[in-house]
Amino acid sequence: MPVDGDVPWDCAPHTGAKHDIYQRYLERWFPILLAGANAYPSVTYAEGFSGPGVYKGGEPGSPVIAMRALVAKVPKAKGVARFAFIDDDQRCVDMLLKTLKKEFPERPRTDAAMPVKVVHGTCATHLEATLDEMRAWGQPIFANLDSWGNAPVPYRLLRRLAGNVSSEVIVTLYPQHFVRFVSKHGEASDAVFGGDPTWRTVVDLAPEAKRRHILTCYRQALRAAGFPYLLDFELIPRTGQPLYLIFGTGHPLGVQKMKDSLWEVDRAQGVGFRDPRDEQAETLFDVNQPVLGPLTRLLTQRLRGSGPVRVEDLREFALLETVYRPEHVIKALKPLMDQGVLSIQGRGALWRSSVVSLVEASSV
Ligand SMILES: C[S@@+](CC[C@H](N)C(=O)[O-])C[C@H]1O[C@@H](n2cnc3c(N)ncnc32)[C@H](O)[C@@H]1O
Repeated sequence: MPVDGDVPWDCAPHTGAKHDIYQRYLERWFPILLAGANAYPSVTYAEGFSGPGVYKGGEPGSPVIAMRALVAKVPKAKGVARFAFIDDDQRCVDMLLKTLKKEFPERPRTDAAMPVKVVHGTCATHLEATLDEMRAWGQPIFANLDSWGNAPVPYRLLRRLAGNVSSEVIVTLYPQHFVRFVSKHGEASDAVFGGDPTWRTVVDLAPEAKRRHILTCYRQALRAAGFPYLLDFELIPRTGQPLYLIFGTGHPLGVQKMKDSLWEVDRAQGVGFRDPRDEQAETLFDVNQPVLGPLTRLLTQRLRGSGPVRVEDLREFALLETVYRPEHVIKALKPLMDQGVLSIQGRGALWRSSVVSLVEASSV
């Protein structure tokens, strides 16, 4: 859907935080895949909803951030980096072309080493065809699918990306879009969830459970598309609507690098993030003193009903199932020890090698 208003538009605080994450992640992604020990001959960075490349205040848009990340972090001689940008608003396409020329007056790489395509069309009709045309398949693709939150991305494309070597997606989702107008959504919206209408049961849920339900359904769709590792989180500005990012990858290393990028985000922008699975929806604003309450609750849930668990397994749970890092786990277990509800096998101290269990789940 073309932009409803002027192009370019203001850069909202959560957009700044989102850009910070893209930048930090891509500054890791490009060098690992093009200049690392197991480098590929080529990679592709693709956007289905590229925008004009610049904001009203002059802030760079995601296409510029991605190109800068490549140029800053990968030596010229290393591999081919393709860039594909799709947008269905002609004004965004025109402005992106102009912005890229202004940002890179000298081509940072030859056309052969860095082919760039800016295409007018929808993500649904033009992204896959552009990737075909650029011969991107068979080499890693990072697809940034940053729509207005309604994620009009063909499921077939997600499946093809998931099946492609070392490929990843990051999708912007506003569950409110689906919650508010559920009765008006036709079959096209089921397609967003891989054709599964389960998301529609959102009408029967309590208000606080609705967003989580939509996210869970979208996670399931991405998993069913073939992404075994997912990371989703909620960016919370001090004022305004929260934003959800869902990242899908075939490798735990991708999750780890995305999480490192998330925890490094500049909090000065006044944007926190949150684990969508935390029942108390506590926002994590201060990165220097991570708020570990939500992780303590998530670990408690994980331990409830299970027998003894190795701390090492809880670290993996934190990495793959929460927004937290493995190194947060031991600290987050401490309050449970202090309350006397966590037992350590052998009664020793709490180490990565310890085996722990809940003493009495109901008192936590
Ligand atoms: C959130 S903005 C993208 C911002 C950009 N990724 C950035 O971070 O700088 C969404 C863009 O998607 C475009 N758009 C909306 N629906 C689209 C569709 N179905 N296919 C392609 N582009 C679409 C809009 O014109 C708008 O430029």
